[in-house]
This record gives sequence, C-alpha cells and structure tokens, in this order.
Amino acid sequence: MRYSGFLTLMSLWLAEDSQASAAMSTTNLLSILSRGNWSTGTVLSAPGSTDFTDATARWDVYRPPNYAAALSIHSEQDLITAVKLSTANNISFLATGGRHGYSITFGNLQNGLALDLSPLDTVAVDAAAGTLTIGPGVTFGDVMDPVYEAGYQIQTGTCTCVEMIGATIGGGIGRLQGTYGLVIDGLLSARVVTAAGEVLEVSENFNADLFWGIRGAGANLGILTSATYQLHPLTGNYTSIDLIFPASRNVTYFTALENFNTSAHWAIETEILYNADINGPEIIASYVYEGDQEEALKLLAPILDVGPSFINVTEVPWNELSAIAAFATDAEVCENGSIYDIYGVNLRTLTAATWIETEGQSSSVVFESWANEAVVAVADEKTAYPWRDTTTYVMLQFVWSTSDSSVEAPSIAMAQKVRDTLIETSGYDDLAVYVNYANGDEALEEMYGARKLPRLAELKKKYDPSNVFRYSNPLPTAYS
Ligand SMILES: Cc1cc2nc3c(=O)[nH]c(=O)nc-3n(C[C@H](O)[C@H](O)[C@H](O)COP(=O)(O)OP(=O)(O)OC[C@H]3O[C@@H](n4cnc5c(N)ncnc54)[C@H](O)[C@@H]3O)c2cc1C
Ligand SMILES: *[C@@H]1O[C@H](CO)[C@@H](O)[C@H](O)[C@H]1NC(C)=O
Ligand SMILES: *[C@@H]1O[C@H](CO)[C@@H](O)[C@H](O)[C@H]1NC(C)=O
Ligand SMILES: *[C@@H]1O[C@H](CO)[C@@H](O)[C@H](O)[C@H]1NC(C)=O
Ligand SMILES: *[C@@H]1O[C@H](CO)[C@@H](O)[C@H](O)[C@H]1NC(C)=O
Ligand SMILES: *[C@@H]1O[C@H](CO)[C@@H](O)[C@H](O)[C@H]1NC(C)=O
Ligand SMILES: *[C@@H]1O[C@H](CO)[C@@H](O)[C@H](O)[C@H]1NC(C)=O
Ligand SMILES: *[C@@H]1O[C@H](CO)[C@@H](O)[C@H](O)[C@H]1NC(C)=O
Repeated sequence: MRYSGFLTLMSLWLAEDSQASAAMSTTNLLSILSRGNWSTGTVLSAPGSTDFTDATARWDVYRPPNYAAALSIHSEQDLITAVKLSTANNISFLATGGRHGYSITFGNLQNGLALDLSPLDTVAVDAAAGTLTIGPGVTFGDVMDPVYEAGYQIQTGTCTCVEMIGATIGGGIGRLQGTYGLVIDGLLSARVVTAAGEVLEVSENFNADLFWGIRGAGANLGILTSATYQLHPLTGNYTSIDLIFPASRNVTYFTALENFNTSAHWAIETEILYNADINGPEIIASYVYEGDQEEALKLLAPILDVGPSFINVTEVPWNELSAIAAFATDAEVCENGSIYDIYGVNLRTLTAATWIETEGQSSSVVFESWANEAVVAVADEKTAYPWRDTTTYVMLQFVWSTSDSSVEAPSIAMAQKVRDTLIETSGYDDLAVYVNYANGDEALEEMYGARKLPRLAELKKKYDPSNVFRYSNPLPTAYS
C-alpha cells in the first residue's frame, strides 16, 4: 500500500514536470512571437487549440515533427518577420505547405515552431501570357479548374492534396511529364525568403544560382512565397484505363510491361497489394493515355492480352484526371493522419524479374512508369534535379496502425531487403531516389547525386549558412 501510494505520487510528479517543461517552451515561444506586428489573418496558436490542429495536421504521422507553437502566415511580410524572429532567438522552425512530406528527418524537429503557409493560397492565371502564379498554400487540386477553364493544362503530380510548390522544389514528377517535363521544367520564376529574411526574385535572369538549386533541393535553401509556371494549351481528353490482374499472371504482366512502348503519351502506375477478400496479392494498374479511346486500346493490346480480370475505360478531361484515374482513389489516398513508412527507389531500366521478386513482400509496392521524353530533353546541368533518366519510380509503402508498433521493426527490415534487391537491377550503380520520395535513411549522394552536391553545398553555405532549413533530407554547407 505504502509503495503504491508513493508510486502514484511519483508518477503524478513526473507527469506534471514534463507538462511544465512543454508549457515553458510554448510560453517562451508565444512570448517571443507576440513581438511580431502580425497582419490581420496571421494566427498564433498553441497545442490543444483547433487553430493549432488545423495548422499542423499531416498526412503521415510516422516520426513526425513536433511543435510547441504554430503560426499560420497570411502575408509575405509576416513570413519575413517570423524567420527573423526565429533566427534571432534560436527558434527551430519548419515551414509547411500541403503537409504531405514524409521523410523521417522531419522527426528531428522537436518542440519547434510550425510556420503554416496554407493561408497564402492565391491562384492567378494570366490567360494572355499563358502563365500561372500561385502561393505556397496552393495544392495541385486548387489549380486544376482555373487552369482548365482558361483553356490550358500543366504538368502536375498525381494527387490533388499535395502542395504544388512543395512537390516542385524536389523536381515534381507526374503523368504529363512525358510531354511537358518535370514540374520544375515549367517553373519560370519564384520569390524566395532566405534564412537572412531577405526576399529574392529567382529565375534564369535573377539569382540564377538559387533558381538552379531550388529546382531539386528547394526545401533546404529558403521558403518560396510564390511561383510562376508556363501553361500549355489543352490538347483534348485523356483516356483512363483501370485494370486488375490476378497475381497468377505476374510473370506475364510484368514481362508485357517491360516490353511496352511507354511513348510520351502514356502514364502507367502498377500496384501490388494485398487483397483481404481473396487473402492474397493482386496487381492493379492505371494506364492513362493522352489521346482518344480507340487509339489507346489499340496500343494497349499487349497489356490487354495478359488477360485482366477487370477493365474500366473512361474518357476524362484534364482537370478531372487526378480525381478519376487510378480507380478514383485520390480522395482516399489524400486522407490525413496515418502511419506510412515509405522507401523510394528509382529505376533506369525495367526488369521483369526484379518486379516479380518484390511481390507480396510489403504493405504495397507502387511502380510509377511515367514517360520521360520531355524530362530527358532538358540538359542535366540546367537544374539541381539529378535523376532525369529515371523511367520508373518505385515506392515501398508500409502502413500500420498507430497502436501497433510491433510491426515497425519487421517492416523496416523487409523494406531494406526489398530495396537492396531492386537496386541490383535498377540500372543505377547505387541507390538513386527522388528526394521527395526518400525515406530519410539514405546517403546524400543517393538523394541529390554526387555530381550535384558540391554546387548544392556552396548554395547552402551562401543562402543558409547556419542551416535553419534542416529538417527535410538536409544538405551540408560543405562537400568534397
Ligand atoms: C499522397 C501523396 C502523393 C504524392 N504524389 C506526388 C507526385 O505525383 N509527384 C511528386 O513529385 N511528388 C508526389 N508526392 C511527394 C511530394 O512531392 C512531397 O511529399 C512534398 O514534399 C510534399 O510537399 P508539401 O508541401 O505538401 O509537404 P510539406 O510537408 O508541407 O513540406 C515538405 C517539405 O517541403 C518544404 N516546403 C513546403 N513548401 C515550401 C515552400 N513554399 N518553400 C520552401 N519549402 C517548402 C517544407 O519545409 C518541408 O521541408 C506525393 C506525396 C503524397 C503523400
Ligand atoms: C512592432 O512595431 C513596434 C512599433 O511600431 C516596433 O517598435 C517593433 O520593433 C515592431 N516589432 C517587430 C518585430 O517588427
Ligand atoms: C487534413 O487536415 C486538415 C486539418 O485538420 C483539414 O482541414 C483537411 O481537410 C484534411 N485533409 C484531408 C484530405 O483529410
Ligand atoms: C539553440 O537551440 C539548440 C536546441 O534547439 C541548442 O542546442 C543550442 O545550444 C542553442 N544555441 C544557442 C546559441 O542558444
Ligand atoms: C507468379 O507467377 C509464377 C509463374 O507463373 C507463378 O508460379 C506464381 O505462383 C505466381 N505468384 C502468385 C502469387 O500467384
Ligand atoms: C513507340 O511509340 C512511339 C509513338 O507511337 C513511336 O513513335 C515509336 O517509334 C515507338 N517505338 C518503338 C520502339 O516501337
Ligand atoms: C471529354 O469528355 C467529357 C466526358 O468526360 C465529354 O463531355 C467531352 O465532350 C469530351 N471532350 C472532348 C473534347 O472530347
Ligand atoms: C469506371 O470509372 C468511372 C470513373 O471513375 C466510374 O464512375 C465507374 O463507376 C467505374 N465503373 C466500374 C464498373 O467500376
């Protein structure tokens, strides 16, 4: 009895102490930030409030950043003030847009300040010039209708919920890249708030060195407050073909895919996942063709010959492509708040044998085979993005419930094993991974490419010498 009473007291004391230290940190932050002369609309919030939850809710809650306070930012001037106050007072911060980043390096931020850019959500189409200018609170989904209604289309990522600028600064891959290139290839200019709290206009003509760096390593060099892109005239409807193949067809399917002519007009996504209804793996695939149904089905003959158990062909206008293609799962995939431990691997060449070996070994394996003609048409040295010759982006996705951490260690072991197998036949000498798909456990060279790193480190030293932008697959200030 005496012991249990003592233990109860002890645990109460410990709980109070940890609450007290968290509260101190929040109190300190709030007191420093209250010195900012914020514009109407900028909101300072503390954990426990709805404003704070809205400012910090994320897609992936695996090893997430942790915040003692949040500032939802309503103007570029307020962002400058926030960066200056933070650096002057040694406050660790992370600026977020769509909050769809998932590297485990975000977890290195503890008791930090969230700079929520989502209120900066302007979308402006200049129809005469054929350009789009957006703020950092704008998602891919936000631009689709305004761009389409003005008679244009643009290369985007696949999901509507991801921030357009957040995806851009890593490179930006997606279905239309075969025709228009990466999202960075459509970027004309941007405004960047640096670690020193300066705003720089960047383009091929102004601050060209920083413009080069933000096209592949942007999360490490500054905060973009706006970005202007080149639009392209609409070319007509797309054909979306959803297919399901039984796992027994795996060899036939992947051999057919390996030999398929993925010309500029095709965007192919194949996913191997576990289907509880049949208690086994299944192959589901989304084929999108820039052109009409008749032509698409004719070209698709080698894949259709494999014998899908399900087929659904739909004609889709550009602005509905994300919502409808791939079994209309966009809304479901976009949902916040789950654990995802994701490992990316880029492939230069497709090898049927490798694909088959990965089958059934993780929660799901996604192969994004986006055509890359327009991607390789841009010279490698033009941007920091290092993997223009990638033909397939693989994602190993491990998902488990927040209450069952026993799955974590076996999942990590499995992921590393499957990843090693994929690297062997990837066509690259070592692991190559799109930085926005990185797990966070990779070496610098594996994400940024050895040949790009000396120049990236120089930029880091010039624009962020004390490394305040350090939570997203961080860059060094020196590299040799
Ligand atoms: C469901 C889903 C689908 C995806 N599909 C694609 C796809 O099709 N193509 C593709 O290329 N990628 C895709 N991605 C990956 C995506 O590009 C990255 O997760 C990206 O980092 C998300 O940006 P965000 O702003 O939404 O995330 P956040 O978590 O808000 O930000 C991620 C990182 O970018 C930084 N950042 C965000 N905004 C800015 C800014 N304005 N200025 C400077 N730094 C900034 C943040 O500081 C942080 O370090 C997908 C991700 C998910 C979860
Ligand atoms: C806020 O405004 C006051 C009065 O104009 C000024 O003295 C102070 O320096 C400003 N604070 C910041 C952080 O800009
Ligand atoms: C994600 O969370 C935010 C904040 O709670 C919410 O506003 C938003 O609608 C959510 N998005 C999705 C796709 O669930
Ligand atoms: C700044 O804060 C970090 C922890 O976030 C701490 O390790 C470091 O010593 C601090 N630096 C100064 C100069 O106070
Ligand atoms: C994959 O294909 C091979 C060769 O046809 C077959 O032996 C194997 O059973 C298939 N795998 C599954 C899970 O059906
Ligand atoms: C692939 O398809 C494109 C477009 O239809 C065509 O121009 C090209 O010749 C084809 N390549 C091969 C190897 O068949
Ligand atoms: C595109 O498809 C839609 C149906 O989704 C149809 O209403 C429209 O007429 C089509 N447009 C063209 C140009 O074929
Ligand atoms: C085919 O796809 C369309 C568009 O997503 C959808 O409305 C329709 O229900 C699908 N048909 C079947 C049989 O799943």
